[in-house]
Order: sequence, then structure tokens, then C-alpha cells
Amino acid sequence: MAVGSGINKGLQSAGIGREDLFVTAKLWPGNPAWGDAPKTGAQTIAECDASLARLGLDYVDLYLIHAPYGGDMRVEQWRALLEIQKSGKARSVGVSNFNQQHLDEIKAAGLPMPDANQIELHPWSQKPDLIAYMFKNGIAPIAYSSLVPLSTWRVEEGQDSAKTDEMKADGAAFQDMAAKYNVSEAQLLLRWGVQNGYAVLPKSLNPDRMRQNIDLFSFAIDDADMAQMATMDRGDGVAWASGDPSK
Ligand SMILES: NC(=O)c1ccc[n+]([C@@H]2O[C@H](COP(=O)([O-])OP(=O)(O)OC[C@H]3O[C@@H](n4cnc5c(N)ncnc54)[C@H](OP(=O)(O)O)[C@@H]3O)[C@@H](O)[C@H]2O)c1
Repeated sequence: MAVGSGINKGLQSAGIGREDLFVTAKLWPGNPAWGDAPKTGAQTIAECDASLARLGLDYVDLYLIHAPYGGDMRVEQWRALLEIQKSGKARSVGVSNFNQQHLDEIKAAGLPMPDANQIELHPWSQKPDLIAYMFKNGIAPIAYSSLVPLSTWRVEEGQDSAKTDEMKADGAAFQDMAAKYNVSEAQLLLRWGVQNGYAVLPKSLNPDRMRQNIDLFSFAIDDADMAQMATMDRGDGVAWASGDPSK
């Protein structure tokens, strides 16, 4: 509701049109492991309608299944997203936090593959096999939590950091590289995603950082630094809790 009100105020006061915005919404698919029954196809369509009503929009640019928690309903939920796309309520449809096995289910059902898969991606969680599969199957990677490797991430008193000692030891490397390109650590990490062909969606409440986070095209990370960053992969994500049964 608050997002919808912000979008509509912005459209009225900032002189921009709906086509200037890219709006993504997500289906919460349910999660039987939490006693939360998976959404059926009909419920999936109703959830999208409810999101559109809250946003005050006729369509979203991208509608995603938030996580592969649908179990037996996963493919039915995906069929419903294809229906949503056909009806014009979503320009593109995709998934989030799906691994190759989940994507293969869709392929095995003979259905069109998702336009995108939104996953945790940064130099410490590079998921090379999944990314190769996604590019091969025309699924665009959207990176979230790109800023996890920031030296300032979760360092406040009482914040729980999932960074391993190995990750912490890499921290200075990003600071040194950022200094070499005369950019911030955040810009370096976001540029890494863009340079790999991923969309990035940094979140900030700070207008100066927002400006910094879209200024990613005045520099390029050189091959040697990209190669060094490729060696920093530490496997599974940090923000997306490890040990999840659906992963
Ligand atoms: N699909 C999923 O399951 C999933 C999971 C997690 C996140 N997401 C999505 O991904 C997006 C990113 O969210 P995220 O929480 O993962 O965070 P993120 O963008 O990686 O990091 C956000 C944090 O970084 C700080 N920050 C932002 N720009 C900065 C800069 N230039 N320099 C220093 N610090 C900076 C922000 O603080 P300030 O506000 O103070 O700048 C905030 O604390 C969100 O839209 C979220 O919805 C999706």
C-alpha cells in the first residue's frame, strides 16, 4: 500500500510516466515446512490481483515466485504466472531463489522457462553452474544482496554477521580495488554484477548512496581484477539462509 502510494505520488509530481518505472512484485508461495499451505494456481492469480490493487497499477513489469517453497504446487504456481503474463497483468514473469533442479521441473513440464531468476549473487556467492544453466536457457540473472561483501555490512553492535573468517580476509581486497578505480566499494561490487551481465537492485534509504549506486558506467573493472574476484567464490549465499530444505 505504501509503495503504491509512493509510486502514484511520484507519477503525479515528478513528471514521469508509468513506462519510466520498472515495478517488480512477488508471490509469497506458501511454505508447508512452516505450516503455510502452498498457494494453488487460482490463489496465485488472486495474489497478483491483490498486489496490483495495493499498488494502484494495471500491470507490473515483472512478477516473481519469491521462493521454491511451493512443493507439489510449484509447477502449478508457474503455470499461473504464465496465465498472468498472458492476461497482460505482468510484462515478464520469473522466479526467485530457484536452483537448477527447480528450473528443470519447469522444463520437464514442457512449459516456457522463466524470464528471470532473482538470486543472491556477489563475489562470495557466484553460483557459476546455476548462472551457466540460466544463460543457456535464456533466464536473466537478477542479483540481490550485492552489497554483502561491503566492509560495513552488518558491523553494528548486535547485528549478526554470517561472514566467515575467509570472507572477512577478502574485505581489504575490495577496498583496495575500489580505491584503484576511484569509486566506492559499493560501486565496485555493483559493477561486478553488471559486468557479468546481471541486473542489480541495491537498496538504500540514503539519496547520496542511491545516486552512487546508479553511477556504474563511468569505469570498468579490468580483466585481472575480474579474474581475482572470480577466485573469491565461497559457495552458498550469506543472506539467503543456508540449510533451507528447499534449496
Ligand atoms: N528475492 C529474495 O529472496 C530477496 C532477498 C533479499 C533481498 N532481496 C531484494 O534485494 C534488494 C536489495 O536488498 P538487500 O537487503 O539484499 O540489500 P543490499 O542492497 O545488498 O544492501 C542494502 C544495505 O546496504 C546499504 N547501502 C546501500 N548502498 C550503499 C552504499 N553505496 N554504500 C554503503 N552502504 C550502502 C544500505 O544502507 P543505507 O540504506 O543506509 O544506504 C543497506 O543497509 C531489495 O530490493 C530486496 O527486496 C530479495
